[in-house]
Amino acid sequence: SGQVTVGELAKLMHKQASEIIKFLFLLGNMATINTVLDDENIELVGMEFGIEVHKENIVEEFNFEEMEEDEDPSKLESRPPVVTIMGHVDHGKTTLLDTIRKTKVTEGEFGGITQHIGAYQVEVNGRKVTFLDTPGHEAFTAMRARGAKVTDVTIIVVAADDGVMPQTKEAVDHAKAAGVPIIVAVNKMDKEGANPERVMSEMSELGCMPEEWGGDTIFVPVSAKTGEGVEDLLENVLVVAEVADLRANPHKNAVGTVIEAKLDKGRGSVATLLIEAGTLHASDAIVVGTAFGRVRKMTDDMGKEIKVAGPSTPVEIIGLNSVPIAGDVFKAFDSEKKARQIAEARLNVRVEEERNASSAMSLEDLARQI
Ligand code: GTP
Ligand code: MG
Repeated sequence: SGQVTVGELAKLMHKQASEIIKFLFLLGNMATINTVLDDENIELVGMEFGIEVHKENIVEEFNFEEMEEDEDPSKLESRPPVVTIMGHVDHGKTTLLDTIRKTKVTEGEFGGITQHIGAYQVEVNGRKVTFLDTPGHEAFTAMRARGAKVTDVTIIVVAADDGVMPQTKEAVDHAKAAGVPIIVAVNKMDKEGANPERVMSEMSELGCMPEEWGGDTIFVPVSAKTGEGVEDLLENVLVVAEVADLRANPHKNAVGTVIEAKLDKGRGSVATLLIEAGTLHASDAIVVGTAFGRVRKMTDDMGKEIKVAGPSTPVEIIGLNSVPIAGDVFKAFDSEKKARQIAEARLNVRVEEERNASSAMSLEDLARQI
């Protein structure tokens, strides 16, 4: 079930946390504003304050990010792998992804792509594969960490003329921390001075020993520019993904992660979402962080309007009342009313937290002055 603290419950019920703490104390339970309440205590508090807090209530799903849902194994269906492309700045990640798309998407369609959303789906040997691009710039550590989390396979691009660099190492760390298999694309093989052996030995030092040297990391020499080796790379991705036997339940409300979000002058809040499980429908009500709304329009990575999207699909949506934060978890709900209640309760909690933080700050300032 959802996790709710005393502080959050107080906000939800428009009560002071101290009142709830006092009540729990009288029951013999020591609690603070951060104490997580069990279902029984939630019910008791609800009864005491004359508010019915039952299963259908928003309390249940207030922290949906932390909820582990028990999936009925019979509902799980095979889903496409999500592959994140990471690596040092300028090592060729975006060029590689463009090349993959060009070879896999017909010329006309490719020309129709107006926006770079950094999340694409292509078909490799008749099987769908979702790719996420990540920037190599050091300022984007959080984005790489997030990419590693939502991903099933990581392609780490290393330029053969440059070797392992700081963001290569960081990408390896993120992938290992997330327990995601790594495939190394040794890129820019067309360049003079390309030295794949050096890449292999430097990657070995990071714990990625090539198969041909007795390790278990696949290295594929490629040129994102000429396309050489790219098919080979994709085949290896499919093999690694197949071994993982990826599944998700498409028969429930969609849950997933925000990949990118921005405010667009004409369209308002525009968010790129990666659906991890469930199916998202155009017109579904969703919550992300403190943002909520109905999906007013949903488009695929080709900019084509779609009505339904299942697991591992990247989509762009409009209709949220504010711009969510990339990396946040979204969830669809049965009614817009419920979505609004959850988002508003979260906003209340956030405002209160900010108020507490700023009053704590001013007390500190006061103490310093004394
Ligand atoms: P960031 O997103 O900024 O981290 O860079 P990136 O890794 O996406 O690199 P990008 O694809 O933008 O490529 C950087 C430069 O390297 C561009 O000028 C590309 O044309 C060039 N480049 C990429 N791949 C190859 C390749 O295989 N061979 C050659 N010769 N140049 C390449
Ligand atoms: Mg790039």
